[in-house]
Amino acid sequence: METNSINIEDIVKQVLSEMTGDKKVPAGSKTAGDIPKTARVAMLTKLEHFDIREYPIPELGEEDILVKVEGCGICGTDAHEFKRDPFALIPVVLGHEGTGEIVKMGSKVKKDSAGKPLKVGDKVVTCMIFKDNPDITMFDLNKQNVGGADVYGLLPDDDVHLNGWFSDYILIRGGSTVFNVSDLDLDSRILIEPCAVLIHAVERAKTTGILRFNSRVVVQGCGPIGLICIAVLRTMGIENIVAVDGEEKRLAFAKEMGAETTVNFKNYKGVEELAEGVKEAFSGYLADFAFQCTGSPAGHSNIYKFIRNGGGLCELGFFINGGNATINPHFDICSKEITTVGSWVYTLRDYATTFDFIKRAKGIGLPLNKLITHKYSLEQINEGFATNLKMEGLKIAVVNSL
Ligand SMILES: NC(=O)c1ccc[n+]([C@@H]2O[C@H](COP(=O)([O-])OP(=O)(O)OC[C@H]3O[C@@H](n4cnc5c(N)ncnc54)[C@H](O)[C@@H]3O)[C@@H](O)[C@H]2O)c1
Ligand SMILES: [Zn+2]
Repeated sequence: METNSINIEDIVKQVLSEMTGDKKVPAGSKTAGDIPKTARVAMLTKLEHFDIREYPIPELGEEDILVKVEGCGICGTDAHEFKRDPFALIPVVLGHEGTGEIVKMGSKVKKDSAGKPLKVGDKVVTCMIFKDNPDITMFDLNKQNVGGADVYGLLPDDDVHLNGWFSDYILIRGGSTVFNVSDLDLDSRILIEPCAVLIHAVERAKTTGILRFNSRVVVQGCGPIGLICIAVLRTMGIENIVAVDGEEKRLAFAKEMGAETTVNFKNYKGVEELAEGVKEAFSGYLADFAFQCTGSPAGHSNIYKFIRNGGGLCELGFFINGGNATINPHFDICSKEITTVGSWVYTLRDYATTFDFIKRAKGIGLPLNKLITHKYSLEQINEGFATNLKMEGLKIAVVNSL
């Protein structure tokens, strides 16, 4: 075996970490010598089809990080890209809800984007690829779509190819945003990205000044987004939560996640009757605040009826254009003085807050990890996407250790 300066450096790191008692790095397993010469990626080569391709793992620049991928969630955005390629990225390595272990780092990499030290063996996630302003969102960048927003897993293919988390290895280039999340288990790390969406939504909601301790809150839509919304509210001390959906299984899960009462909209005729149902669920009151977590125009139209005069609304269900929704500006907004905010993705600061949210949610016994209902290996990725499109389960993940 050829001995070069890179693996000597890794051996020294290994010996030092053993001397300092860091048992997370077992002897011999994280050195450059253990890294294969090639890595597999799931490349979306045409609509609704991934091919497993193998590419050489390149030499690392002094600010680069090589991560061995452990798992990655399938997002609604991935499903859109899989079905229609709206961002014109094909061929592309998708996967932006990923996490894994650092197996090699350039000599200049010392800390993550929050200033936490980084070493070989640490577990990491990535966020958007800019870090000058932790409060900036994709919206502020005036990007037309997520494809242009520089997120690993939504990057155009290039000579390196190791650009997305549906893979064995991903190359995190110098200047990227990377966070050390070694203190979270794998499933929690896979859920960071969707959780950050709700941390941002609740931060947006707080700007109205209406959402308070003990507020009555409606969460409409109990897919992963609505369910995580309930969990975030619970960690904030808001317990008076009514969840609205049409699927009994999801409503049952909403209760497990912390909703006090649930309302199945399919049991009511017309929105007036439904609003009475919501009022009854709050013991005779309308909601102080509502989170709209469906992509359904009818859902948007209905939700105003659940909110009291002077209440607030956060609309976050329309990540993509789902068409127009009809409301009556007199009855729904003007005469009720409703304060509305929109919420789109997250900021880097929200990402960092999300790590604490996950620990707190677990601390109070919320079953966040149960959101991951299906796991597939990289070879089974086409099957995983098919399950996602059939709307079976909640969060589907591709996990390399299967
Ligand atoms: N703002 C953001 O940055 C952001 C990020 C991710 C996802 N989203 C959006 O959030 C929405 C929810 O995401 P998800 O993954 O939970 O989706 P999902 O499809 O799994 O869940 C939506 C839920 O809404 C329910 N529903 C549909 N119509 C309804 C109605 N009229 N009243 C009550 N419930 C109704 C469905 O039964 C379903 O359980 C999506 O439309 C998605 O595009 C937004
Ligand atoms: Zn996503």
